[in-house]
Amino acid sequence: MTDDIRKGLAGVVVDETAISKVNPDTNSLLYRGYPVQELAATQPFEAVAHLLWRGELPTEDELAEFVKLERSLRPLDDRTVALLETIPGEAHPMDIVRTVVSQLGTFDDTLHRPGGWTDRELDFGRAVYLFAQLPTIVAAVQRRRRGLEPIPPRDDLDYSRNFLWMTFGEDPDAVVVDAFNRSMILYAEHSFNASTFTARVIASTTSDLYSAVVGAIGALKGPLHGGANEAVMHVFDEIGDAENVVTWLDEALSAKRKVMGFGHRVYKNGDSRVPTMKAALDTLVDHFDRPDVAALYDALESEFVSRKGIYPNLDYPSGPAYNLMGFDTEMFTPLFIAARVTGWTAHIMEQQASNALIRPLSAYNGPDERHVSAG
Ligand code: COA
Repeated sequence: MTDDIRKGLAGVVVDETAISKVNPDTNSLLYRGYPVQELAATQPFEAVAHLLWRGELPTEDELAEFVKLERSLRPLDDRTVALLETIPGEAHPMDIVRTVVSQLGTFDDTLHRPGGWTDRELDFGRAVYLFAQLPTIVAAVQRRRRGLEPIPPRDDLDYSRNFLWMTFGEDPDAVVVDAFNRSMILYAEHSFNASTFTARVIASTTSDLYSAVVGAIGALKGPLHGGANEAVMHVFDEIGDAENVVTWLDEALSAKRKVMGFGHRVYKNGDSRVPTMKAALDTLVDHFDRPDVAALYDALESEFVSRKGIYPNLDYPSGPAYNLMGFDTEMFTPLFIAARVTGWTAHIMEQQASNALIRPLSAYNGPDERHVSAG
C-alpha cells in the first residue's frame, strides 16, 4: 500500500459545505451556524428542515406556508399502498422503505423535462415530498409488522405528533412527542457521513435526487453507520439486566466484537448530540417508569468507557428511547431515514449547485500485466 492512501477517506477533506459544521475539538455541531442542542430545545422539526434546505429558520409566514405544503403531501398514492402490500412482510423495513422511495421517483413526471433531474427548485419540491411521505410510509411499515391496517395522516397535527399518531393510533403524550422531535432534529444532518457522501457521489454524476436518496438509504442500513441504533437494542436485549454487563462485556471484548453505539470516526471525546438525546431518554424513563433501562444504559456506558476510553454516539441513547416509545427494533433505522432525508437532500442540492464529478483514484495491487496463452 502506498503512503498516500487514506483508507476509508479518514481525515480527507473532499469539498466545502455550508450546511453543518462538526467540531470534535469543541464537541459541537452547528446546522447553518446554529448549535444543534439549541435547535432541538426550541424548534419543531419542520423549521429545522427549512433551515437545512433554505439556509435560514423560517419566519412565521414561511413556516405556515411550508407546513401547509408538507401536510398536503403526506397521504400515500394508491400505487404505494399496493406496493407496500406486495413486498414480503418479513423483509427488513430498511429494504421496504428503500424500495418504496425508489418507486416514488417513478411517479415524478418532472424528471422527464430537459434538465429536470437536477433542477434546484424541482429538487426542493422533491425534498419536501420525501420529507412528507416518509413518516406515512414508515408508520405503515411498522403497523403491517403487527398485522394492523395503516392509519391515514392527519393535517391538523404537526410532523412529530402526526408520525406517532399514524404509528400507534393514539394521541401521543407530550413527553414522547418532545423526545421524538428532538431525535429527528439530532439525526437530521452530520456533514460528510457515509450515507450523505454516498448521496453526494450519486448527485455528482448529475443523476436525480431520488436515486441519490435510495443509494443513501443503502449506506445508512449498515451497522457501522445508521444500523447501529437497531444494533444497540439487540445488545440491550442480549445483556438483559445491568448486573450482567460485566460478564457480557468480558465475552464481547474477548471475542473482539464491536460494541454498537460506541465510537465515532470524527468525535473521539464524545458525540455532541448524546447529552441532548440522553436527557430525552431520561424523560422517557421517568414517564414510563423504567429505571431498569437507565441502569443498564449507565452500567454499560461506564464499564465500556473505563475499559476502552471510547464514548457513546447518538445511536446509544436513541435506540432505547425508540424502544420505550413503542417502535420495533427493526424500525429504528427507518426513523433515522425520515430524519436524515433532510440533510441528504440539502447536500444533494448543494452538490448540484457547485458540482465536480466525484471520482477518486486507486492504487492497483493485482497481478502484473499478463496475456491469454495462444494455445
Ligand atoms: N467497540 C469496540 N471497539 C471499538 C469500537 C466499538 N464500538 N469502536 C472502535 N473500537 C476500536 C476498534 O476495534 C479499533 O481498535 P484497534 O485499533 O485495536 O483495532 C479502534 O477502536 C479504532 O476503531 P476503528 O473502527 O478503526 O475506528 P473508526 O474511526 O473507523 O470507527 C466506527 C468508527 C463508528 C466505525 C466504530 O467506532 C464502530 O464500529 N462503532 C460501532 C458502530 C456504531 O456505533 N456506529 C455508529 C456510528 S455513529
